Amino acid sequence: MAVSANKELRKLEWRSNLSVGVASIDDEHQLLIGVLNQLIEARDTPTEYTIADRVLRDLFAYADYHFEHEEELMATYDYPELSSHMTQHAQFIARLRQLDLGLSIGDARVEDLARFVLNWFVAHIMVTDMQLGAFLGERLCKERSPFEFESYRLAC
Ligand SMILES: [Fe+2]
Ligand SMILES: [Fe+2]
Repeated sequence: MAVSANKELRKLEWRSNLSVGVASIDDEHQLLIGVLNQLIEARDTPTEYTIADRVLRDLFAYADYHFEHEEELMATYDYPELSSHMTQHAQFIARLRQLDLGLSIGDARVEDLARFVLNWFVAHIMVTDMQLGAFLGERLCKERSPFEFESYRLAC
């Protein structure tokens, strides 16, 4: 579902096929989609750079708490793919920093940022976060711990 350089950028709609089966993670993914859509909407308008600047701050903040949330879950439940999953998170932040710099010195366009976030996010959720969701479902749905059900809101 990657968006090629020439394809028109469309807003991403939340659909159930993006659900990883853990509502507390899904909620945060939906927030990111909202932020991304602001960027896609602002593209090619007079305020695109102002909006992109705000969106970038939101994305850095989002990466902080959302990645930490997933990484904490992975560490708590001894997820075997923890380090490769964390590497993907770190690569997202590194690329975001490059684009932040690129936008400020005129080396990158708002569209580059929007395409990167859209492509990374869909690919990461559909494969990497989905695997984590399946692992947590497998582990925790069997254990049926009321605490975990409430705090992560698993779809068992
Ligand atoms: Fe992730
Ligand atoms: Fe995620």
